[in-house]
Amino acid sequence: MKYAIRTSFVVFFTIIITVNSTLIPDHIDEYPKKPVWSNYLADPFAFEFNGTYYMIGTGLGLSENNATFPSLISDDLITWNYSGNILDMINRPDQPSSYWAPEIAEKDNIFYLFYSVGFGDKKHRLRVTSSTSPLGPYDDSQSIELTNVTKLSFAIDPHPFQDKKDGQWYLFYSRDFLDTNDGYRVGTGIVVDRLINNMTQLAGNETIVLRAKHDWQLYEHNRSIYDNIYDWYTLEGAATWQQESGVYICFYSGGNWQSTSYGVDYGIAYSSPMGPYTEDSTNQARITHSIEGIIIGPGHNSIILGRDQKTTYIVYHAWNEAKTIRSPYISQLNWKTMIPNKSSSGYDILHLTLLFLVYIIVIVLIFHHAL
Ligand SMILES: *[C@@H]1O[C@H](CO)[C@@H](O)[C@H](O)[C@H]1NC(C)=O
Ligand SMILES: *[C@@H]1O[C@H](CO)[C@@H](O)[C@H](O)[C@H]1NC(C)=O
Ligand SMILES: *[C@@H]1O[C@H](CO)[C@@H](O)[C@H](O)[C@H]1NC(C)=O
Ligand SMILES: *[C@@H]1O[C@H](CO)[C@@H](O)[C@H](O)[C@H]1NC(C)=O
Ligand SMILES: *[C@@H]1O[C@H](CO)[C@@H](O)[C@H](O)[C@H]1NC(C)=O
Ligand SMILES: *[C@@H]1O[C@H](CO)[C@@H](O)[C@H](O)[C@H]1NC(C)=O
Ligand SMILES: *[C@@H]1O[C@H](CO)[C@@H](O)[C@H](O)[C@H]1NC(C)=O
Repeated sequence: MKYAIRTSFVVFFTIIITVNSTLIPDHIDEYPKKPVWSNYLADPFAFEFNGTYYMIGTGLGLSENNATFPSLISDDLITWNYSGNILDMINRPDQPSSYWAPEIAEKDNIFYLFYSVGFGDKKHRLRVTSSTSPLGPYDDSQSIELTNVTKLSFAIDPHPFQDKKDGQWYLFYSRDFLDTNDGYRVGTGIVVDRLINNMTQLAGNETIVLRAKHDWQLYEHNRSIYDNIYDWYTLEGAATWQQESGVYICFYSGGNWQSTSYGVDYGIAYSSPMGPYTEDSTNQARITHSIEGIIIGPGHNSIILGRDQKTTYIVYHAWNEAKTIRSPYISQLNWKTMIPNKSSSGYDILHLTLLFLVYIIVIVLIFHHAL
């Protein structure tokens, strides 16, 4: 009888773990002593193509040869060689000159470079331009604008994402919100739309992914912006990852990129990249945040698979001691098993009821057999 009960418990928990559990990302527990490259490369986006690793990012304001977005190449994720700036900028006084947060997506052997361009931190619009090789050169004068700055006056941090389930491409990006509907706070939040027409157009179904709800996401008290004064909160730098087929983890950076408040957290969606996303952050960014003497203002990450096609790595920037340069760091990203609770799945009552029924049936069968 004891044996039968023990067996039933094993069966029950095996079912719970295999049927009902989800892998969620764990906090970074090991920080490298120095960046993989010690010059300026912020908002690092790493990707792999044909056996080679590439990394691109935001450069310093004025770049050499009218080109921006520094790039690095690696064979092993450890040694990274500088490989020039990849985007030829439009260099005219009437044109925006702040180029931010590039990412690359490959479709049918064409590489699409997404980025935002604005005047300082104002009037950013999203652009895309293409090339036949991963590091270009890409030409800004050939780019297409994905957002209309007259209608949407601030859009940054484009993040192309392909759903493994059906191959559909999406674009995550950040924009500003001045309302406080649904308990959200005023500031920059993350939205998503489908990418259509060979990556050159947004479908026009912009959907909210995540907006600010927590104190640690404060960008600035009494920020003077949009002809008003707001306590401004920021969520930016989306990086969505499917560790399991039907689970979409949207990593984001919150707080102020210029200060130690910056850090990485995440939200989860269980049905589609369009959401709905839930996020159970607490009083601090859960994946990484500043740690005295270890890391300063870590954030704006991307995720990449190691050579074994299994180990995940998180690529993020952080400040140097002097707070003059943001350089890229890489840490292993670990996963832990979670039984979704109501706040992060919405399905737990149904799941647990079904599981309980299965448990009862198994127990009855075992006992019936034992008698
Ligand atoms: C992929 O790499 C191989 C070997 O390094 C090379 O011969 C081939 O041309 C590359 N293919 C593409 C599409 O770059
Ligand atoms: C950069 O562009 C400007 C304007 O087109 C041009 O005058 C200047 O010579 C260029 N500089 C370099 C280094 O190519
Ligand atoms: C990086 O540079 C070193 C030294 O020049 C070279 O041996 C290595 O092959 C380079 N790695 C890549 C991925 O280009
Ligand atoms: C952008 O939006 C404005 C205002 O609706 C419109 O007049 C303009 O034609 C749009 N521009 C483009 C390129 O669609
Ligand atoms: C997308 O590009 C492919 C080739 O790269 C072309 O065959 C196809 O017609 C294009 N589709 C659209 C909608 O432009
Ligand atoms: C923000 O402004 C209000 C009104 O002027 C002031 O009372 C408050 O102290 C300010 N908060 C900070 C953190 O500066
Ligand atoms: C827009 O997105 C929402 C949220 O995913 C979805 O429910 C709706 O069907 C979409 N509408 C269109 C026209 O694609």
